[in-house]
Amino acid sequence: MKVYKIAQIPGDGIGRDVTAAAWAVLTKAASAAGFRLEGREFPWSCKFYKETGMMMPEDGIETLRGFDAILLGAVGWPAEVPDSVSLHGLLLPIRKAFVQYANIRPHRLLPGVLGPLKAEGFDILCIRENTEGEYSGAGGRVHQGMDNEVAVETSIFTREGVERIIRFGFEQARARRGKLASVTKSNAQKYSMVFWDEITKALAAEYPDVEVTSYHVDALAARMVMAPESLDVIVASNLFGDILTDLGAAIQGGLGFAASANINPDRSAPSMFEPVHGSAPDIAGRGIANPMAAIRSGAMMLEHLGEAEAAAAVMTAIERTTATGIGTVPGKDSTDVITAAVIKALTAQEG
Ligand code: NAD
Ligand code: IPM
Ligand code: MN
Repeated sequence: MKVYKIAQIPGDGIGRDVTAAAWAVLTKAASAAGFRLEGREFPWSCKFYKETGMMMPEDGIETLRGFDAILLGAVGWPAEVPDSVSLHGLLLPIRKAFVQYANIRPHRLLPGVLGPLKAEGFDILCIRENTEGEYSGAGGRVHQGMDNEVAVETSIFTREGVERIIRFGFEQARARRGKLASVTKSNAQKYSMVFWDEITKALAAEYPDVEVTSYHVDALAARMVMAPESLDVIVASNLFGDILTDLGAAIQGGLGFAASANINPDRSAPSMFEPVHGSAPDIAGRGIANPMAAIRSGAMMLEHLGEAEAAAAVMTAIERTTATGIGTVPGKDSTDVITAAVIKALTAQEG
């Protein structure tokens, strides 16, 4: 029997609930499909930080390297640990160290989910650059606390980093409906974003079958609301992609539905799967987090592992569940009720 080694990092807040939900569904799908997921849970989180002074041990990255994939919940508990410490101590270093440069975030409405827009038939795949750009962590502050204080945050865009993500976007567009929206702010940012536009243009010559359009991020944000069905694949820098994908989550009914995959396309290190949302301190501990985003992210993990049939079975079970109305109204059904319904749908499919 095939066995996949999965590192589970539930993290903080609702990350714990939704990861447990995803794990219950995924292990069920695995046994039905005849393979095994061997999980090992790591307690790395803000709680771990408070106990040890570290978000993960010194050799955390090396420990994770031995796994086939990582399933993560959410990181961050800002009331006790500053986000700049927790995220730069756990989530962001994993994305970077494992060269998970393509963050794939789908936006479409699941059956039975009422989005806030009139449009229903959209199907967007956002590809977010995940290792550099505005998240480079380069910068500093001088004259801290003084009237003349200056803070600098430098975005770093490399040719290698920009080329590979835009190429990834073209490949995804080629495999879908052949349309790529490349996102910049090159009217205001005259170095990095002009660089990005030039690379998009140069690569377009290699993909004559893909219709590529460059948009400014502000205009693209409006388009996602006004005409989402006109979009197919979006490729954006780290920060723009972050913001656009919370917007993408909103148009598909909320953060509780939005999945994401941090992919290392070369497979030189494990990829990581996590919902788009965070630890949701406002609802944590109440058992009402929507686990759909985490379960969908888990389906993306199965797909990445080469278990396409099991991935499709999980997606079908999710859709059959939302089609009945379960999990579609925020706060109405508990995490456990939604998870049990997905597992029931999965079991019914087997029979
Ligand atoms: P958030 O995504 O945690 O929450 C935003 C809003 O969406 C909240 O009202 C929350 O209740 C709601 N929400 C989110 N997920 C939901 C779900 N599954 N079901 C129902 N409602 C849901 O964003 P935030 O409040 O800005 O961040 C909270 C913490 O999480 C911060 O520390 C932040 O840095 C961190 N964060 C982590 C990740 C990650 O680990 N990938 C992602 C985003 C935010
Ligand atoms: C996400 C999150 C993270 C990001 C934060 C928590 C650093 O918002 O995964 O979308 O900006 O990448
Ligand atoms: Mn985000």
